[in-house]
Amino acid sequence: MHSRIAGTGSYLPSRILTNSELARSVDTSDEWIRAMTGIAQRHIAGDGESTADMAAIAAKEALAAAGMRAAEIDLIIVATITPDLVFPTTAATVQAQIGARTVGCFDLSAACSGFVFALSMADGMIASGKCRSALVVGAERMSRLLDWTERSTCVLFGDGAGAAVLVASERPGVRSTSLHADGSTPDVLRAPSKRSPYLHMEGGAVFKFAVRSLVEGGQEALQANGMTSADVDWLIPHQANLRIIEASAKKLQVDASHVVVTVDHHANTSAASIPLALDQAVRDGRIRRGHNVLLLSVGGGFTWASCMLEW
Ligand code: ACO
Repeated sequence: MHSRIAGTGSYLPSRILTNSELARSVDTSDEWIRAMTGIAQRHIAGDGESTADMAAIAAKEALAAAGMRAAEIDLIIVATITPDLVFPTTAATVQAQIGARTVGCFDLSAACSGFVFALSMADGMIASGKCRSALVVGAERMSRLLDWTERSTCVLFGDGAGAAVLVASERPGVRSTSLHADGSTPDVLRAPSKRSPYLHMEGGAVFKFAVRSLVEGGQEALQANGMTSADVDWLIPHQANLRIIEASAKKLQVDASHVVVTVDHHANTSAASIPLALDQAVRDGRIRRGHNVLLLSVGGGFTWASCMLEW
């Protein structure tokens, strides 16, 4: 038995914070942010808007796209590093908000790689016959991890959620996944940092690591499926920085016309970034049945992961 994605959904808060608006409160500029990251704007959750609220909206949209009811879901995983509470988990809150049954629910923490890690877990559960369907969500409220006076980090992130419904299938939707982590350099990217409650990042080191690990993940996925980069219809890399995306795609020899880019309009939404981009490309008709879709993630931890999907 295999698993395949039957529907996707996403949610971005209505409040949009543009680069120019940000430049009024920190020493930065629209030109610098666009040139260095490709980001034009980010969405910021409202005061009463929780990570679970955003996750539940994306989840409902994914269920509608799959033509399924919440009661048909056998497992819920929410990938997040910004849960609202230590417990109940975000996933349990989503279960209640969407009206799912009392099925197993848990949060998964793997920073920006969380969605691909969660997809891999759900695929394993379905492939082993332990369940027939799963709801996988990536949801983040990164705005509360940021020091809004620190220009080197606050311009990079945003809030949002993306979701996918996985169902048991005779044909492989999920063809392969690979998961990695390296905990040997915890201070390069961490939250809270040693000195403050906020996210700390050594930008240059993260940039180099991100390109290296996205390429490694991509090569691993191609090899696992006996494919070359010419077989990839759509590459969906973690949406952190356009320069990271372009450098990785070039090294993997995937043409820019086959790369989904959404970082410009929502910045880095951590675990939500890949499902947000996936949902966009599915809804605008770029991703079609039979396409090979390669998801590549990298995040704090460090973590990195790949998933090859046949749509
Ligand atoms: N506006 C204007 N100037 C800025 C800003 C800003 N927002 N931020 C930093 N600068 C300045 C610095 O102070 C520095 O000035 P100086 O030369 O006078 O000292 C100059 O710009 C260059 O700073 P660097 O940090 O050396 O610039 P770099 O080339 O490394 O680019 C950037 C910075 C864009 C953050 C880059 O390092 C990067 O994208 N790194 C990866 C970040 C990322 O994707 N993180 C995701 C984390 S989680 C994950 O998804 C893996």
